[in-house]
Amino acid sequence: MHARVAAVTTTVLLGAAATLLTPAPDARAAARPAPVVVAHRGASAQAPENTLAAVDKAAEMDVAWVENDVQRTKDGELVVIHDDTLRRTTNAAKIFPGRSPWKVKDFTAAEIAQLDAGSWFGPAFAGERVPTLKQFVNRLDRHRQKLLLEIKNPQFYPGIEQQIIKVLGNEGWLDRWHVAHRLVVQSFSADSIRTVHSLRPAVRTGFLGTPAVADLPAYSRFADLINPSHTTVTGAYVSAVHAHWGPHGVPLGVFVWTVDDAVSARRAAGYGVDGIITNKPDVVRAALPGA
Ligand code: G3P
Ligand code: CA
Repeated sequence: MHARVAAVTTTVLLGAAATLLTPAPDARAAARPAPVVVAHRGASAQAPENTLAAVDKAAEMDVAWVENDVQRTKDGELVVIHDDTLRRTTNAAKIFPGRSPWKVKDFTAAEIAQLDAGSWFGPAFAGERVPTLKQFVNRLDRHRQKLLLEIKNPQFYPGIEQQIIKVLGNEGWLDRWHVAHRLVVQSFSADSIRTVHSLRPAVRTGFLGTPAVADLPAYSRFADLINPSHTTVTGAYVSAVHAHWGPHGVPLGVFVWTVDDAVSARRAAGYGVDGIITNKPDVVRAALPGA
């Protein structure tokens, strides 16, 4: 055979073999592990958000990961609540009528402990309380669950990162096992998670948002996860995040929020996300075999 013809033939054969050996995109998607399911504010479609009842409900549903929101009372207690006021999820307006706008930071822990954080959701949950962070992590431990802890509104609570680390340490959540497998701290504030990373470099962190791809190298110095709204991402974006390595020497991960329907869950899984944060873990699980 003429040498040039032989070379071309070899190239064609090698190309065909490479094509056969490279999985098609669908096969790659099928080979990926299913995303981790995270119960957003606990199982918050089934029980009042951010309460111990919502943690218990997630455990009943066999959901290992629970997300919560941490803020601080007037006298320095860390409590688990989403809004910066007590109005929507407690009866604060009824118990303390003269204290509008019922900011979390303007109430003591003893005052907040009196509030009913369950009746707004349904009479079966009357008497449910706003948990402290300590109560919340202890309940997670009882169920052997994992925590995606959001530092909420850190701009109102100077030093809250140090305080969170202290409570987690006191409650046994900074041992090797918890840090490696059971804890991620996230925030919409890059400064806040940068602070957590510098205080405790072993703790995994997540940035809530969709940074520009050009900015990912900067985030990868202190964040292990990039956690965007599911409405803001594409497969290309998720791949771009995965192409960067985080502070613990593994590729950055992506947990999207808040995905409550089957179509969105399948779309996010098709993009290759690593986690799905949802109010409805049952719906996401039903949509994604293996999740
Ligand atoms: O975990 C992500 C998600 O909780 C962020 O939004 O407002 O529900 O805290 P938000
Ligand atoms: Ca949250």
